[in-house]
Amino acid sequence: MKIDLYSPQSYASGHPFAQYKWLRENAPVFWQEEPNGKGYWAVTRYKDVWDVDRGFQAYSSEPTIMIQDPAANEALGFGGYKMMLMMDPPQHTAYRKLIRSEFTQPLAAGRTPRMNVLARQIVDEVIERGECDFVSQIAGEMPSYVIAELLGIPLDDGRELYKLTEIIHTAPEVQVANAGGMAVLKMFEYGRGVIEEKRARPKDDLATKLLQAEVDGKRLDDIEFLLFFLLLIDAGGDTTRNLLSSGLVALLGNRDQLAWLKADIAHRLPSAREELLRFTTPVVYMRRTAKRDTVLAGEEIKEGDKVVMYFGSANRDPEKFDRPDQLDLSRAPNEHIAFGTGPHGCLGQHIARIEIDAILQEVLMRLHGLEIVGAPEWLASNFISGPKQMNVRFTPGRRSAA
Ligand code: HEM
Repeated sequence: MKIDLYSPQSYASGHPFAQYKWLRENAPVFWQEEPNGKGYWAVTRYKDVWDVDRGFQAYSSEPTIMIQDPAANEALGFGGYKMMLMMDPPQHTAYRKLIRSEFTQPLAAGRTPRMNVLARQIVDEVIERGECDFVSQIAGEMPSYVIAELLGIPLDDGRELYKLTEIIHTAPEVQVANAGGMAVLKMFEYGRGVIEEKRARPKDDLATKLLQAEVDGKRLDDIEFLLFFLLLIDAGGDTTRNLLSSGLVALLGNRDQLAWLKADIAHRLPSAREELLRFTTPVVYMRRTAKRDTVLAGEEIKEGDKVVMYFGSANRDPEKFDRPDQLDLSRAPNEHIAFGTGPHGCLGQHIARIEIDAILQEVLMRLHGLEIVGAPEWLASNFISGPKQMNVRFTPGRRSAA
């Protein structure tokens, strides 16, 4: 079996599940070569991914969580500043504390009615037409609106910012020179406007709270605020979008499961949503860097080596999940690792769950006769997995009365 977990081409029609399987069985901690780097350890078993993600004393999130180092990855070099995603405790803990209270389960639950309204409006926009691009017109709309609401900026601006994150995530080889860097600059330019606005007219929103928050007795400076801003827009955007789009592919490919879900969606959605997270796993990897010499699954890892956790493989590990390649919407327990774990475990996961439920309910219960037209075009990315474009058809229906 040819193994290449680095090449974006390996992801051009979804996760390379056959490669993952071979690696789990034959080389669970595998030395993967890179074209423009020194290579890295690819970790594919659930237990090892779990241990690396929680083992921050041995595996650092600095200097970056991307496979490429910052010098090679211009879009992520911010003159010494970094996002909390790329910090270790105790620095990371202090930064995460600034926004942690905004992302608790009860607060997220309180947002459910508003999210349901947003989901209804999104489906209203397309329902009369009987066709649309599911990725951009439904799945992508929801997270961009939700993050805009959280930050306290207009919904339409959320959509524009979200388009910039797509450019930031696209491999440099397949777009015009420095498009990623320009997109980051545009994002920052917009963020500077937010700083001015929220300082002049503070509101009850996350952007205002961040501007008023202090780490070690000091307020965040502009760049620190802008990095938080970028992280929030970035982290919740195409992750949620891809879950919804790949999730729909999985549901339409398993009609008996879909029928089971629709028969009692209110009660069955929680387990179904968790299974879709496991089955589709939108975030392909997170990288760590060994802080000292260590041994993982018998392999000697040297200080400074890159160690990359493959969440999509961990989520199909038969040591952890029965019949892992089968979609089982009633699966319980389901301790998937699609949101990661440990100190960096997804901060937005409670919000993501509510967004996912809101859209799935609307889409599955209102768009009758839903089907995918042609083959979805998948993102050729080794970082984020999901369709880039996916045309769908359904019986035209009426907008909601609200
Ligand atoms: C289906 C949707 C989502 C998936 C699959 C996902 C997945 C992830 C993963 C894998 C990580 C890294 C965890 C680790 O290193 O162990 C992460 C971190 C993070 N996510 Fe999410 N995410 C989703 C939605 C969201 C949303 C909606 C938000 C915000 C509104 C969000 C905000 C964050 C933040 C801020 C971090 C960094 C946490 C830290 O460094 O402490 N995510 N997410």
